[in-house]
Amino acid sequence: MQQYAVETFDLTKRFGNYTAVNGINLRVEAGTIHSLLGPNGAGKTTVLNMLSGVLKPTSGSAKILGFDVEKEPEKSKSLVGYLPEEPQIYETLTVREFLRLVGRAYSLPNDVLENRIDEYLELFDLKRVEQNFCGALSHGMKQRVVVCSILVHDPKVILLDEPFYGLDPASSRLFKEILRDKATNGCSILVSTHILEIAERLCDRVTILSEGRIVAEGTMDELKAKAGMIENTTLEDAFLALTRRNERSLEKQL
Ligand SMILES: Nc1ncnc2c1ncn2[C@@H]1O[C@H](COP(=O)(O)OP(=O)(O)OP(=O)(O)O)[C@@H](O)[C@H]1O
Ligand SMILES: [Mg+2]
Repeated sequence: MQQYAVETFDLTKRFGNYTAVNGINLRVEAGTIHSLLGPNGAGKTTVLNMLSGVLKPTSGSAKILGFDVEKEPEKSKSLVGYLPEEPQIYETLTVREFLRLVGRAYSLPNDVLENRIDEYLELFDLKRVEQNFCGALSHGMKQRVVVCSILVHDPKVILLDEPFYGLDPASSRLFKEILRDKATNGCSILVSTHILEIAERLCDRVTILSEGRIVAEGTMDELKAKAGMIENTTLEDAFLALTRRNERSLEKQL
């Protein structure tokens, strides 16, 4: 039986009477980059929060590399690097201190940690600000530091919620190259984004959420075929067709 990097089983989250995520069965194959797309309010952040253990599901469950997120939280969390929609950064720590704090939380040996920090500071052109306070950095620089912080402990599964927001073109390109390189080396990545061009170019498979349900899943070509698109149409056309179709069918049910 194939083990998925991420697998959910009728995963559901209700806030009061509102069902934000409605019984989804999501699967991310190991060594792939998988995109989670959907209109505002579709439930993407709620799914990622449940996968990372930040939110408890109302019902259903999720596994990270076979470990149940609720029953085996330490194992599943140790495998995951999560970049949330609104990342927290300690404003009064320097860049290096912040990266050390994160690395130590994952019990990395000091020499490995310092080498990794050097490597990522260099890669993301942050060496010159390593002694600056995080609070004094520009928005995009903070985002680069947060990206470094999730890579520093070498996670096997990376969960990203709108990770490209605020990154300049060079950092964005670099981050995409790092993600592809990680996937080639067996890491699995689930990324929510509104930038369909990124999903189309970067991701192996796509899941489209709408109103808390999965409305489509597959490769770009499969999604285009599902949306009834002919060749040379874009993922944007398929996305709009599939999510509109879902809205119309919901309207009919009401
Ligand atoms: N803590 C909460 N309490 C009540 N409702 C919530 C809470 N968190 C999310 N919701 C609702 O659940 C739904 C899904 O929200 P979520 O943030 O997961 O959407 P999203 O797909 O990430 O949207 P976006 O593209 O705007 O980031 C929304 O209707 C939202 O208002
Ligand atoms: Mg969101």
